[in-house]
Amino acid sequence: MPRPHVEFLHAQQLLWTAAAFAGAGWRGVEVKVLSRDPGDGACSVLLRLPAGFVRGPHALAAAQEWLLLDGAMQRGSLRYGLDDYAWLPAGQVTDGWSSERGAILLAFFDREPAWLEAGAAAAALPLPPPIERIATHDMPWTSHDIDPSVQFLRLTHKVLRHVPETGEKTLLLATGAQTHPRDWREAQLAHDCVEEMYLLGGDIIGERGTMYEGAYFWRPPGRWHGPFGSRRGSLSLIRFCEGRHHNVWSEDPRPFSLEPMHAPELPPEQRALAGAAWVPPRF
Ligand SMILES: [Fe+2]
Repeated sequence: MPRPHVEFLHAQQLLWTAAAFAGAGWRGVEVKVLSRDPGDGACSVLLRLPAGFVRGPHALAAAQEWLLLDGAMQRGSLRYGLDDYAWLPAGQVTDGWSSERGAILLAFFDREPAWLEAGAAAAALPLPPPIERIATHDMPWTSHDIDPSVQFLRLTHKVLRHVPETGEKTLLLATGAQTHPRDWREAQLAHDCVEEMYLLGGDIIGERGTMYEGAYFWRPPGRWHGPFGSRRGSLSLIRFCEGRHHNVWSEDPRPFSLEPMHAPELPPEQRALAGAAWVPPRF
């Protein structure tokens, strides 16, 4: 079952709730659910580990991918600080998780992440190689492989994960400040895959409104979007899922405005909480 179209909300509009995933290891962990597949429980969430969080060896039933947004944590012998990234296959046994002062992770699971104690984790087939930790600040920015047609946004990226066989890709993407389409008009874009984004900082202005730090969308394949621009520049985490990313352009240029109407597309359960425009306090 596909996930519903969520475009867009701000995480600040959602409430922290107790993680409702299977397994005692999740006790005490809180989540904000950004999007979820009701069929298999695949989800994108903010995870809040409480101060003093300690868990022993275990595995999750889902592949897990995360970026540490706040605090710090330890996984086995590895320490994760601000903006560190990891991807681990389903079933990989981890020597333990702990966080002395608490941590907030932006996390993606490809099915319900049931908590499995180490003895119960099936280690049947060879697992795909993990990405144990990337210190993303140490990676260089590049504009290699970025479509020149979107370079009015002055894009650079850091590719954190790319699976050539499936096209899955996760990257950090930065846009320049004061960027907009030439002549304030541009065609719209679509992709044959899901595009998912969490805005880590700055702003992105698009046809559905203005996104600030904490903005999130899950856009199913084939949806026209844009044109985009930014007042202050932006840094986002983008995932391309369920197919390969390439840009398909419409034949219908649309005007770009620095003050678009707020026009989100949200599933019914999110409309009441996140349907109104959200603006960070500025003055
Ligand atoms: Fe796109």
